[in-house]
Amino acid sequence: MSNDSPLLQLDGSLCRLHRDSEMLCLDHGEKMALCPPREAWEKVAQGASVSELKRIVGDDPQAKGRFFLIVGYLLRSGLLYETHLWHEKPFLRRWISHGFEPKKPQTFEGPLVLSKYAYLRNSDGLALLESPCSRARILLLQPGLESGLFAAHHAIEDPLTRLLYESGFLVQEGLTERPDQLRWEFHDLLFHVRSRPGRHHSPRRRGPESEVLPMHKEPNREACQPLSPVDLDEVEARDPTLNQVLRARASRRESSHPQFCEAQLSEFLYRTGKDEGGRRPYPSGGGRYELELYLNVRECEGIDPGLYRYSPDSHGLERYPASQRVLQQHLQFAANATGANKVPRVFLIYSAKFQRVSARYRSIVYALVLKHVGVLMQTMYLVAQAMDIPCCAIGTGPCDVEREMLNTEMEVEDAVGEFALW
Ligand SMILES: Cc1cc2nc3c(=O)[nH]c(=O)nc-3n(C[C@H](O)[C@H](O)[C@H](O)COP(=O)(O)O)c2cc1C
Repeated sequence: MSNDSPLLQLDGSLCRLHRDSEMLCLDHGEKMALCPPREAWEKVAQGASVSELKRIVGDDPQAKGRFFLIVGYLLRSGLLYETHLWHEKPFLRRWISHGFEPKKPQTFEGPLVLSKYAYLRNSDGLALLESPCSRARILLLQPGLESGLFAAHHAIEDPLTRLLYESGFLVQEGLTERPDQLRWEFHDLLFHVRSRPGRHHSPRRRGPESEVLPMHKEPNREACQPLSPVDLDEVEARDPTLNQVLRARASRRESSHPQFCEAQLSEFLYRTGKDEGGRRPYPSGGGRYELELYLNVRECEGIDPGLYRYSPDSHGLERYPASQRVLQQHLQFAANATGANKVPRVFLIYSAKFQRVSARYRSIVYALVLKHVGVLMQTMYLVAQAMDIPCCAIGTGPCDVEREMLNTEMEVEDAVGEFALW
């Protein structure tokens, strides 16, 4: 790679120069006023080096300062990228985000290697290099270059090595982890970074909602049974206070009552999941309410053992076909995960209809879904405590078994949480 200074270019997939060249039109409809000179922005739209831009902007320190302040802002916002050249041909493209500071070169005892947090993926036929530890992403513009990334890099003076190093993709061999990163699994660190703003340019919101899936599934009416009505005045008259519930709440993993009946299950579901005109007892980001509740009922007087979906709008149960073997396997998982002596009376699965969230929130879908799982779990803990039903959240579920039970496509709807009642 030569030492040619990189070209700065507007990212045409995200923004374009207004025809009078005094404005930048962003893809989500916003506009940004640009400062003169217009010729400099016209050059940036096609790709121009810093020295070329300096020549066009001129020597006036104020004009220069203003122009390059905007350039810096656009660079860190991902609207402008740098194209690095190799013998005057485009070689690498780099985007940086706010807070990017090139890592300073230093002398190393051994070779530099690709960080274990770095990853490559396909972007329109080219390899895109990213890492949760870097505030930059690099597109390799020449096919075949990616294999070189995995080689040991010896000379920090080499421009490619320097670029990868200053962007946070290379670390010294043997020191591939910083002590504070030791506990991070690759996928966890990536998930954490990508579900918070700052180190990437993925938008959090998608803009006006269009083809969002309906909140309620169309039930199979023949398989539905209504649950008994709940008298909320009677519930209020006998409920302990919120403070008593909070103080007494605990995970309990065995039955303390000889029986559990349909009226109790009906009340529990009503108080935790009943939908009233798009509102439920627990909060949900953007009112998405993407969670479905499925119940593996083993023992509940008045309800046949089997698999059901709770219908939150009609307050009923919809029977789902499932084999005895699979249901038993599922219940046994809950007992094993909690160390309980007996399998639970009811084992609930929370599943998420992801598209309801992704239709509005783009890069934080899964993080939001898991937060919703958390608020629903706490709501269930509190209601179960108020009703004196032993219960426990379960950290994870037997996903293949649950997929078979729910008969859903993983990318469309999948189990994301589990909760057991004893
Ligand atoms: C998200 C979540 C996952 C949990 N997973 C399990 C589990 O798999 N097995 C289990 O026995 N308890 C599980 N628990 C219960 C915790 O162990 C329990 O809440 C914790 O020990 C505090 O005790 P307490 O709930 O009685 O106050 C889980 C709790 C939460 C909130």
